[in-house]
Amino acid sequence: MLTRNAVITDAAKCMDCGFCREVNVCRSRNECSGCLSCYYACPYEAKKILEVMRPSKYVTIKIDGVKYAVPSGITLKEALKLSGFVFSEPWKKGIAVPCGIGGCWACAVIIDGALERTCITPVRDGMEVVLDVEKIEPLRIIHGPEPHLVGGKATPWWEVGRASYVEAAIWTAGCNLRCPQCQNWRITYDNSSGAVSPSEAARILAVCGKLYRTKGLAISGGEPTLNRRWLINFFKELKRLGSGFRLHLDSNGTILTQDYVDELVEAGCNTIGIEPKAGRLETYMKITGLKDVERAREYFERSWSAVKYVFEKYSESVYLGVGIAYNAAWMGFEELVEIGEIIASIDPRIQVTVLDYFPSFRRRSIRRPNHGEMLRVKKVLEDAGLKTVIVQTSIGHVGPS
Ligand code: SF4
Ligand code: SF4
Ligand code: FES
Repeated sequence: MLTRNAVITDAAKCMDCGFCREVNVCRSRNECSGCLSCYYACPYEAKKILEVMRPSKYVTIKIDGVKYAVPSGITLKEALKLSGFVFSEPWKKGIAVPCGIGGCWACAVIIDGALERTCITPVRDGMEVVLDVEKIEPLRIIHGPEPHLVGGKATPWWEVGRASYVEAAIWTAGCNLRCPQCQNWRITYDNSSGAVSPSEAARILAVCGKLYRTKGLAISGGEPTLNRRWLINFFKELKRLGSGFRLHLDSNGTILTQDYVDELVEAGCNTIGIEPKAGRLETYMKITGLKDVERAREYFERSWSAVKYVFEKYSESVYLGVGIAYNAAWMGFEELVEIGEIIASIDPRIQVTVLDYFPSFRRRSIRRPNHGEMLRVKKVLEDAGLKTVIVQTSIGHVGPS
């Protein structure tokens, strides 16, 4: 017998919302392969992980022409690890598993002749796997495009008018964080929509921008940086199609290493929004749902380092915006002062957008900060030395003036 993780539904908690049937869909209907996608995606936390004993049955798969016997009922990701394959770190080029929920396609390899995700695909007897994906176009699930009135964290504040669209945007599925109050969770946890190539995504986004006469073309998420090859090809194609537009990436910054930033700028990205979210690691862990302190520290520090790097190296050519995730449930005004001081020490003119996080996904009991509270947040950051603070409020964006 073999011990495995399997996920079951706790009927007492399930609200029959349909999300796990229609959006984050299981690909192992007959026998749970323990991918955990539905466990992370259920908004009511109705999925439970059980350790189960299964008969030791094996299937034979071929990886780059070589036969391997692997346990049945596991994901291809696990089978590849058992066969000795080492996944890449998510900030490097190569096949990585940054989201694990089927959204980003960074883990995709060629399975039986077609690109497919290893993190949610169960193995089956006779499966043929090819690991060299460099010559075929990567894929990714996106939502949109849609025109946007206010844009994202790095949309230059002076471009935002009340009556006209400022940016056309798409949103990518998949994220490496597990924020319990994810503000965009229906997209983040989508693993069932059709995936598109970077050139197709760039084409429909550029068409949308031209149709609505926007100043910028933007990509947000989910977390867009997770599939590096896809994102770089996307910006290259967008640069070719969207001449005259600002090309905007909104990111959590967790995997934005210096060489990744350099490659993005080289590819045409000239507007970068980074959201380190908090000023303290404990707060960051509450916001992001990360349990592993070392992983959280790495992500938190890399986000702030990315802010510094983009400003110091590219302030002439890239417009930078910083995002902060505010709610009194996890952050006090003392921390806002610390955040203000961190950013002011890089440059007080950096555009900072504070998002008034509202109840969503699994954190439905928090209260959305009211307009007056967000104006106080703005004042605290300005008193800490910042010159360009915008706050998102329930009745619209305020600032920087
Ligand atoms: S996503 Fe969760 S709450 Fe919704 S139907 Fe599935 S198990 Fe039930
Ligand atoms: S989505 Fe993954 S974890 Fe959930 S039941 Fe299917 S195989 Fe198991
Ligand atoms: S890691 Fe498999 S789709 Fe994101």
